[in-house]
Parts: sequence; structure tokens; C-alpha cells
Amino acid sequence: MSDQGDSKPKDDLRKQIEIIKSRIRQWDYAYYGLDQPLVGDFEYDTALRKLRDLEDQNPDIAIVDSPTKSVGGIISDLFRPVTHTIPMQSLDNVFSFDELRAWEARIGKSLLQWSDSEPDNSMQVQYVLELKIDGLALALSYKNGLLVRAATRGDGTTGEDVTANVMTIDVIPKELKGPFKSIDLEVRGEIYMPLKAFNDHNEYVARLIESNEAQPKDKLKFFANPRNAAAGSLRQKDPRTTRSRNLSFFPYQVAYCSAEQYGSHFESLKFLQDLGFGINSNTELLQGLGEIEAKLSRWAAERHTLDYEIDGAVIKVDSIELREGLGSTSRAPRWAIAYKFAPQEKSTKLNKISVSIGKTGRATPFAELDPVLLSGSEVALATLHNEAQVSFKDLREGDTVIVRKAGDVIPEVVSPVLELRPIDAKPWEFPKLCPTCGARLYRIDGEVDWYCPNFECGAQVVARIAHFASRQAMDIAGLGETNVERFYKLGLIKTAADIYFLTAKDLLLLARFGEKSSSQLIEAIDVSRTRPLAKFLVGLTIRHVGNVAAEALASKFSSLSSLSQATSDEISEVNGIGATIAANVVAFFANEHNQTLLERFAKGGVNPTQSVLPIVHKNTLEQRSIVVTGTLVHFSRQEADTAIRNAGGKPGSSVSSKTFALIVGESPGTSKVNRAIELGIPQVDEAGFIRLLETGNVVGS
Ligand code: IVH
Repeated sequence: MSDQGDSKPKDDLRKQIEIIKSRIRQWDYAYYGLDQPLVGDFEYDTALRKLRDLEDQNPDIAIVDSPTKSVGGIISDLFRPVTHTIPMQSLDNVFSFDELRAWEARIGKSLLQWSDSEPDNSMQVQYVLELKIDGLALALSYKNGLLVRAATRGDGTTGEDVTANVMTIDVIPKELKGPFKSIDLEVRGEIYMPLKAFNDHNEYVARLIESNEAQPKDKLKFFANPRNAAAGSLRQKDPRTTRSRNLSFFPYQVAYCSAEQYGSHFESLKFLQDLGFGINSNTELLQGLGEIEAKLSRWAAERHTLDYEIDGAVIKVDSIELREGLGSTSRAPRWAIAYKFAPQEKSTKLNKISVSIGKTGRATPFAELDPVLLSGSEVALATLHNEAQVSFKDLREGDTVIVRKAGDVIPEVVSPVLELRPIDAKPWEFPKLCPTCGARLYRIDGEVDWYCPNFECGAQVVARIAHFASRQAMDIAGLGETNVERFYKLGLIKTAADIYFLTAKDLLLLARFGEKSSSQLIEAIDVSRTRPLAKFLVGLTIRHVGNVAAEALASKFSSLSSLSQATSDEISEVNGIGATIAANVVAFFANEHNQTLLERFAKGGVNPTQSVLPIVHKNTLEQRSIVVTGTLVHFSRQEADTAIRNAGGKPGSSVSSKTFALIVGESPGTSKVNRAIELGIPQVDEAGFIRLLETGNVVGS
């Protein structure tokens, strides 16, 4: 992957190589020395590759002291230096199956040369596939079965003595067990921070920052990622701090053993298990790359189901004999390769810090970023939570920042890269006025958040209506924030109740709404009329009334009118409802504006009640989608939906090829019936519906 022509003068090349080298050195220092990465893994690996390519293509340029030849770490003077008698190597990386196959071809060739035998296409090497845990390498030395020293990798030759801290980590045996418990042993493995410990710490720090109280400085540090968290926690002056961080460890290599009881890597891991180590249960012995590729794809997709972070997988030749034949370069063994997954962290430009106004008026700052691809999706926006977090992280417009997104977790701006801060970047100040309506923002004393005071503020109204239509509340498919905002701006809706006065004719006038999408949305709105009371209550945005409180209220007051007339004492009698929520509910119904809103809901045909039918849970419908149209005699629409759910099915709002049956009541919707005929979906009357609920079978249609 050379991008310079042959004519490029050697001096330029030398300069380019020097620049990359010094950049990598600076990154190494920040990463290993300060536990504060300046760039994501991806940028690091790309730069290292670029350097290696330049070196390979220009062997005539003398390259001294290159990061491609060493493992990168640095040694601080906080801990006693430890010399690794057997150097601690790193791993070479591949990023695609093609590169992995090229690695196998290389080792295959070298194995043939070494074994001096005829080329044999059927040669299938046995590999061990291990997860590549995202932590840091640790060497544990045992003498006569006792843990005597623990050291970090450092630069591969000299590491740091972290014995006192490692002694506090429960999963690391201090004493070996089993028939070989008195041996001398050096085990290497990865020390890491489980995701739960990582998330708990960052949430704790966020709470401290937001509490506005003075805090001891060492507690106030977000972990950038679990790997830096592990490194920082291991390199503590006080072992009690290390203990409190709940680190864990997986061994991956026996570097030395006075009683070798194994002929292969897989056996050596079993041997370690017998000595008392916890081995990663996802380690597998596999034959050939075919099987390995399937597993790699699986892990790339399922990495987020683990309770620790991995950045790839490691493929290792299993046979110790073959390994010896293959040998190592100065940096890494030839018998192992790391297959790296897509990065979860990248640096990008923070163009602007804006503020959005939510359904309660809360003003939340968010970052507008140059888009980056992370965990399979493009990240261009990221919440910054509140003013305290922006100022604590000292994020400024124009900064280069590190952004992290692990799986489905919301994207996080981890930190600014101070080295790349523009000279004129100024500390960010929270706006004084609401960006939507211009009202002066206010803050309750001692609280962290700013609020827009204007109940009629367009942003608040849109957020409230979007929340009402959202899945957690009335679940109106097709009425997301974008459409709500469009309808609001066009004056089609001013409150959530106005949704129920929309007509297909209104929608047809709008761009991007055709016959089909208009009627689908109107249908979805119609279906929502029968949602249970609890969902409706969630949708009203009553302070502190979320799912749980709404369910509790709805089960006691099964209609909206009985809840609206209840006194605060009656409401606080409900299990799980305290005086604050009770007061909020009473205040909500006492408010004139809300009374008008509720009247309009009633006019629009929304009279939510809670089902009082006994709930019988069966699974006759096995996740099948059942659509109801028209009026049934024994079921309200909401009761029919509940009955379908209770029988293990899914109530659907429109007929598609996935629909199992269409239940047809009085005055059915012609479009649904026609669609069912078109697709050959069985139609069932009310008696058939009851049989269907009981037996799961469609009889006579
Ligand atoms: S084997 C000589 N196995 O990845 C071979 N390394 O990028 C030593 N790592 O320095 C490494 N999980 O800290 C190996 N299952 C695993 C690993 C693993 C994580 C780390 C290790 C190594 C780094 C190389």
C-alpha cells in the first residue's frame, strides 16, 4: 500500500518516516505512561502499518529505534523495574480474512521448509482460537508454587513490579494447587476490567461531578475505556485502590514451567486450569481456517454479549513443536496472529456544542461531530449530558476528540486531544437563552441541569408529542420525532391530542406521504386509541410517572376519569407511589391546560381504560402476528390485543405477508380485508378468534 512514486526523493521519505515515528512515540507515551490515549486503536494501527510498509519498501533507509521493532510500552519510575528474562512480545495484527489467509500461507511455507518434506496441500494445522481481551499484559512468576512477582510488560524487556497490587486481585492464585503445585512457573495473561466495574465507576464519577460538592481529586476521573481503566487501576500507589477496582485476569501463555506437562498450547491452558487459574471459557481448539473464519464472524457480531471488552481474537498454532519451528521476529511470534475487529473508538472533530430541549424543558448539550463509523453505525451526534460534564472534560468547539461507541451503548465523547487543540479554542459556555424559543434558561439551586421555562416552547411541545407517540407510550408507528416536528411546524398538530384529528387527506398534501403511507399512519393512530391506560399515562409526561408508576396507577384506577378525580391521599395508597408522585399527578389533573388537553383526547376518541380481564398466559400463538379489523362483540380492541399477547402472539396494525390471520369483526376495514385476500391470509370471525386463542389453529375461514 505504497502511495509514493519511485521518484520521491529519499530525503522526503526519511522525513515522512521520522514524522510517523515521533507521532507513534508520543502516542505510546500518553497511552502507556499516562493511561490517557491520544488516538483510538484504529489510528494507531494504521500509522504503525504505514510505517512498516515504508520500511519494507525502503530497506536501504537505515531505521533505528523503530516502533515497528519494539512493543511500544514505556516504563515509569513509580514502580520498581523488572527485567523479563524471556522478553514479553506483542502480536502482529490482521484486519481481514484475506490477510489471515496470507498469514497462514506464510507459516505453511515456512513449516514446509523447516520440516523439509514435500509440499502437501492437505496439511491442516491445528489452531487455538482465543478472544483478544482488551486489557494489559501481565507476567506472574511463581516459585515453589507461590506467587512471588507480578510485572507489567513495559517495553517488553523491562516492565514494572506491580506485585503488591496484583496480590489484591482475587482471581489470581497466590498459591498453586493440584499435583504440580510446587513448581516454578511464569504465566502470562491479560488483566482487564469487567464492563460492569467500568460502567459503575464512570456512573459514580458522573454523579460526583454533578453533585457539585468538592471531591478528592483522584476520585474524579472518568475511565476512557476498560483497557485504560485496567492499566490505571493496576498502577496505583495504594493497593487498596487496586482492590476496589475489581480487576480480573485470563491467562493465555505459559512462558516458563519447571515441569512441562503438555505438548500443545491447549493442553498448557488445561494444565493452568488444574493449577488454579480461571481459563477463558470461549477458548477453542479448531482445525484449519474455515472453522476459524466462521467463529471470527460470530464473535465480531456477538462481542457485546460478553461482560468484558475484546478488540479481536488471537489465532495460535497449537503444537509447541511447530511453534518452535516457526520462531519469532523481534516484536512478535510468527505462530500467532491477532485478528482485529472494527474499532470502537476513533478521534474526530468536534465542530459545535449545541443544546437540545427535551419534553420537560431540560436543556441537554450535545456534540456535533465530523461523522465517524463506530460499532457498525455512523456517529455524528453525541450527548454531552450536562454543563458539569462538558466543563469537567473541558470540551471545546474545534477540538479533536476521542469518541467511543461500544455496541448499542450510546456514543460517548471521551476526551479532547489537548495536543491538537486550536490556539483560539475557548472554554464552552452554556447558553443563557433557549435556542428554540429564546426564553431565559433557569436552574434550580444545587441542581446540575438548566431548563427552558416556556411550556409552549416549540422544542418542548414537539418532544412531548414525540414521546406520547413513542414506543414506550402510545406506540404510533410512523410518528417519530421527524414527522411530529413536520406536522407541528405546518400547524397540523399543536398538542398530542391533535394527532387524533389528523386525516389521510391532511397527510396526502405533504411531501413524502402517498396513499399508502398516509393510510398506514392513520391506521396506526386509530389502533393507538385502544392502548391501555398505563401507556397513555406514560405518554402524558407527568413528572416522575414512568412505566412502573403508570402501571401501578392504572391497576388501581382503571379509568382516566377515576384517576383524575382521586385525591393525593388515595393516590399515595397505591403500592410504589409516594407523596411526590401523588402530588405531581394531582397537580397535572388540576392544571387547566391539561384539562383542555384531556377533553380533546376524549373528543378524538381516546378514552383509555385498563383491562380487568383475568390474564391467562399461554403460548398457543407462538409469536405469530394477528391483525384485528372491525368491532368484536366480546372484546374491545384493547382487550383483543391483550388476549393475543397473553396467548403468546403479536397484535399487528397492518396486514402483511407475515400476518398469520386477520380477525374480522363488524364493519371491517376494506383495505385490510382486500390485502388479506391478495396475500392469501386466512380471515377468521370472532368465534374463530376465540378458538385460535385457545388452540393456535385457524379453523374455517
Ligand atoms: S498472546 C507472545 N493471547 O494482546 C504472545 N495476547 O496486541 C503474547 N492479548 O500483548 C500474546 N488477549 O496483552 C495473547 N488471548 C490472548 C490475548 C492477548 C489479549 C493482548 C496481550 C498482547 C496484546 C497484543
